[in-house]
Amino acid sequence: PPLSDMFNLSDFEYVAKQILPPNAWAYYSSAADDEISLRENHYAYHRIFFHPKVLVDVSEIDISTEFLGEKVDAPFYCSAAAQARLGNEDGELSIARGCGDENIIQMISSQASFSFDEITDAKPDGANQWFQLYVLPDREKAYDAIKACEKKDIKGIFVTVDTALLGRREKDLRHRVFSTGDGDDNEVTAFVAENDPIMAFKDPILTWKDIQKFKEATDIPIAIKGVQRLEDVLIAIDNGVSAVVLSNHGGRQLDFARSPVEILAEVMPVLRERGLDKKIEVYVDGGISRGSDVIKALCLGAKGVGLGRAFLYANSAYGEDGVKKAIQLLKSEMYLDMKLLGVSKIEDLTPDLLDLRNLYAR
Ligand code: FNR
Repeated sequence: PPLSDMFNLSDFEYVAKQILPPNAWAYYSSAADDEISLRENHYAYHRIFFHPKVLVDVSEIDISTEFLGEKVDAPFYCSAAAQARLGNEDGELSIARGCGDENIIQMISSQASFSFDEITDAKPDGANQWFQLYVLPDREKAYDAIKACEKKDIKGIFVTVDTALLGRREKDLRHRVFSTGDGDDNEVTAFVAENDPIMAFKDPILTWKDIQKFKEATDIPIAIKGVQRLEDVLIAIDNGVSAVVLSNHGGRQLDFARSPVEILAEVMPVLRERGLDKKIEVYVDGGISRGSDVIKALCLGAKGVGLGRAFLYANSAYGEDGVKKAIQLLKSEMYLDMKLLGVSKIEDLTPDLLDLRNLYAR
């Protein structure tokens, strides 16, 4: 179907499923075990309702904000996803262009299908990017990556901490996804490529000490991706980390990990109560597909939200234009919903606009 037939982000998923080779579809759509967390990430948003305000001047809506000090046109970003080239030959390059044109941030995966330099060079002038770091047992590689980030003016380094081992994604096993070079790899590759250095990309002894050292090594803000409990957010604050992403890796790691938006709803009141909410930026990812989802997360106190699969699907189906269209759709859904909610700017999105009574009623 033509791009003009895409009316929401789920439409891209539908088209991607039709056009992608079965193994690419499996790799993008899969999640761990019974895929409970994958579904839960999405459904949790369906249990949050709005308390709109009326008779408010909503003639001008502004959804721009700042992420780690950089201005962005909308409070969402493209999260790191390995192997964008499986679905589109321009892979991460067209994602870089699409995001840059719409002034939202692309988080570059440690295991992208193009090189770091190719992806940073592809972005339009003035566009901002983050880097997602998988830490290898060989720590030197992490420091090399940090240096490369400095050269390319990367605005944030997100250390992924939820992948001591890979989750078991049975769809990938069934489709024999041989995705060597893939940061988000699976056990099939583990036995076909045991000697492949790429398989050694996740270090199970990564600890807060390493995070401290990364912080000392650079002025680029260090963030942690994959936090799943209040206590770890508090430790992150003690460690002077700039941001955390509440995330269960799109349900691809520990199945039955709770939905990040539920955790957000618990974390933010505690941070506010202790006066810590300005000490760290809290992001969430997983299951977001509507402007209303973004708004809900922001009402709860998230600085912004990340989307993974949605961009892979849009890029697979329509390349750069698809990425742009997906961003525009999400932006326009946000405009409309904020008007109807009676809120004209991001900082006025507050918890009282939400009805959370059903959030815990699974
Ligand atoms: C990912 N994700 C991911 N995360 C990461 O830190 N490094 C990576 O290389 C990858 N690779 C990757 C590949 C694919 C195919 C998917 C679907 C996801 C996780 C990603 O950054 C993000 O946390 C989730 O995708 C968010 O969930 P949604 O938006 O896909 O529901």
